[in-house]
Amino acid sequence: MRTKTITDIDVAGKKALVRVDFNVPLSSKNPNDNITVTDDTRIRAALPTLNYLLDHGAALILCSHLGRPTSAADKQYAMNPVAARLSELIGRPVQKMDEVVGDSVTAAVAAMQPGDIILLENTRFEPGETKNNPELSQKLADLADVYVEDAFGSVHRAHSSTEGAARMIRAKGGPAVAGFLMGKELDALGTAVSDPPHPYVAIMGGAKISDKIKLIENLLKVADKILIGGGMANTFLKAQGHQVGKSLVEEDAIPEAKRLLKQAANRIVLPTDVIVAPEFSADAPAELVSVWGIPQDQMALDIGQDTIERFNEELQGAQLVIWNGPMGVFEFDRFAEGTNALAKLLAALTNHGVQVVIGGGDSAAAVRKAGLADKMTHISTGGGASLELLEGKDLPGISVLDNK
Ligand code: 3PG
Repeated sequence: MRTKTITDIDVAGKKALVRVDFNVPLSSKNPNDNITVTDDTRIRAALPTLNYLLDHGAALILCSHLGRPTSAADKQYAMNPVAARLSELIGRPVQKMDEVVGDSVTAAVAAMQPGDIILLENTRFEPGETKNNPELSQKLADLADVYVEDAFGSVHRAHSSTEGAARMIRAKGGPAVAGFLMGKELDALGTAVSDPPHPYVAIMGGAKISDKIKLIENLLKVADKILIGGGMANTFLKAQGHQVGKSLVEEDAIPEAKRLLKQAANRIVLPTDVIVAPEFSADAPAELVSVWGIPQDQMALDIGQDTIERFNEELQGAQLVIWNGPMGVFEFDRFAEGTNALAKLLAALTNHGVQVVIGGGDSAAAVRKAGLADKMTHISTGGGASLELLEGKDLPGISVLDNK
């Protein structure tokens, strides 16, 4: 990785502004409830960086957004449950501030000693955050000597806490570097877009093809095969001339699907059979049909067994596999079989030394739901960020950092 990391700088006696992605699921949206963190994966993922910085004599000023509040009045998005969970996990007190910047923060930061941890209030409680407001960025930068970016899930956002503050710390001569989670993510996902080992198979799923056209195009430059399942496969099937009944189809994207199929027909692998149902519901009666015989009054909600076997054949011998998007409506058990079967296949491949990288968001949730999270080479903590990285975009929270 060409970006500088925390091991390239001296942090002893320094105050480090660490941007983490503690945008975690919460138990309630009612501010009067006792809200707790229901999935602490992202907090755990930041611990190696935080522990390294503490062990090397830094004081930590942590900041993150949580949810999409419209203002500081959205108290259900206050960072208190996150501070409580972090304190339990890291085994130290975490001083949670009620402001992002302001007098209370300035005073608390001035009193910090090495080993202390402060967690700022939700950065999106400040209206300037999502606008990358220079004043807010400067106030954040004024708090610290060093900027550490470990919020992989947020590096596609040019916000004050992800880009502006890093730039301002650099402007005053301080380092702006990546943490260990960033390093892991960039290694795993970076390999998938530049100089991957071959054979290389990408698996795409999820509901919409329109969200992933750029991704498919970019992966077609580097991957040997692209296996497509999930709702987005219907648009490709229709573009090939199949009748897809009531299945979700993006009519507007059919010309794009046709173009991609023309460009790389022998490298795009589509389902040969699907599980259909008369309606989108958890207990709708399910039936396995060939893609040549999808009834008019049915919709495809999962891939079938023949498709899973076909995908398995394509995966044999691969050196690198990347997976983004579920194969069906995995939230409903009846239509989760394709996604689960794929997760099992990938776990077995990892066990045989294949590098298996799971994009964030729904595919990560599906792998966790299948209980196979620790069986993959890497599961990204970033949904939108992993997509944009794989699309080949320059991410503002990464390009602002110091290079080696
Ligand atoms: C995520 O969960 O993908 C990141 O934390 C970014 O959140 P956002 O989409 O609200 O910016």
